[in-house]
Formats: sequence, C-alpha cells, structure tokens
Amino acid sequence: MRDAAEEAIEWAELEPWQYRFSARNDYPAIIPFRGMRIYAPGGLYHPWPLSSSHFIADRLPGIRGQKVLDLGCGTGVLGLWLADPEYGNCVTLTDIDPVSVAVTECNAMANERFARVVQADLFGAFDEERMWECVIFNAPLLCTAPPGTGHRMGTDPEGHTTKRFLAELPSRLERNGVGYLPWSRQVGADVPRLCREHGLRAECVGRDWRESGLEVQLLEIRRG
Ligand SMILES: C[S@@+](CC[C@H](N)C(=O)[O-])C[C@H]1O[C@@H](n2cnc3c(N)ncnc32)[C@H](O)[C@@H]1O
Repeated sequence: MRDAAEEAIEWAELEPWQYRFSARNDYPAIIPFRGMRIYAPGGLYHPWPLSSSHFIADRLPGIRGQKVLDLGCGTGVLGLWLADPEYGNCVTLTDIDPVSVAVTECNAMANERFARVVQADLFGAFDEERMWECVIFNAPLLCTAPPGTGHRMGTDPEGHTTKRFLAELPSRLERNGVGYLPWSRQVGADVPRLCREHGLRAECVGRDWRESGLEVQLLEIRRG
C-alpha cells in the first residue's frame, strides 16, 4: 500500500526550500540554546531559533527524573538541555553520524552536562531489553541531499528511517513511556497510519510552519 503522503507530494516543488534551508547550516556557528552555548560546525543541523530543535523544545512537557534517549542528536542540543542536573534525567544521546557524536561530546563538556553519547543507527547499539521512558527523535525531514560534500543532517526521502523507527519504538518504550517525533504530512511516511499498525497512539501536541515551507507537527506517541 502507498502512503497517502507519498501520493500527495511533488518532490520538485520542495527542493528549492530545502537548498535554502540547508545553506543556513553550511557554516560553523555558536548558538545559544536555553542557557547553553552549542557549537554547530558546518553541515550539521543548526539549532537556530526557527529550527525544529526549538519547535520540539518549546512543546515538550517538563521531563524530570526520567530515562531519556535523544536519538539523532546532531549537535546534542535537545538531550544536553534535558541533561541539566537540576532535571534529574538520565540521558543517552545517539547519532548515526560520527561527527555528530564527536560534536555532542564536545558540547557536553563545554556546557558541563553529563550524558552518554553513542554512535548508532537508530536503536542498533543497544541490547534488545534496553528501554526508555522518553524517546525523542528529531528525524530528518529533508527529501534530497543538498549539493556539496559537507552535508551531515541526514535525508529521508521516502520516510524509510521514520518507518524503521516506528517499527522498533514499541519494544523500546517503557509501559508508560512516551516518544516525540516531528512529522509533516507533505513528506515521507504516513506516520499516524504506521503508528496504528504498530499498536501506538499518536497525538499532535504542536503544529507550525516554521521557515521550511512545510507544516510540521510534533507527535506524542505512546504504546496503545
Ligand atoms: C534534523 S537533525 C536533528 C538534530 C538534533 N536532534 C536537533 O534537534 O538539532 C536529524 C539527525 O538525525 C540523524 N540521523 C539520521 N538518520 C539516523 C539514524 N538512522 N540513526 C540515528 N541518527 C540518525 C542525523 O545524522 C541528524 O543528526
């Protein structure tokens, strides 16, 4: 069965904004984020004020005293924010990209945040029994890779990464655990349908157009 989102999309119409958007991440920057200073080298996803990193952080409930996984951590901005010692969380951050892992470790040291940082394709580095109370995946929504060699933000043209993530999420969430995933009905997978197929309940807890030209929703996902 084809995803409804795949049928609706005209990829060519989306490419111009994707190139504009990624150009803003081409150069190194130090970006303030909720009391931290985040180093973002060229090519990694930058947590600019209009980024999905802010979109997610603005809409998360207070996460305190939980086992948290920041999957696809990029610069580490979300997980390191939640690793604030005052919040009492136990935070693990992962990314498939080794540069992101190294940058996250640097940002952890520079901001005096203690967290475990692991290179992994989704949950692949962890034992099968390992579960979390909160899993955040600011998944790549870019359809096409921008030109040039420096791009490390990840693309997911057909939503394959999101589909794999949703297939594995039920076995990685504690019984009362919750996942957060941004989603746009204009690109990639039909996430609400996939959630139903995997026995998950998804609720939209935020919606915005940001700068991308895409309507992005933040989904809060629980075991059904
Ligand atoms: C949109 S960026 C988000 C970065 C960061 N979480 C933030 O909010 O600024 C998506 C990240 O997901 C990572 N990623 C893509 N596919 C992945 C996979 N299969 N496993 C782990 N990380 C992945 C990319 O390398 C990239 O760093």
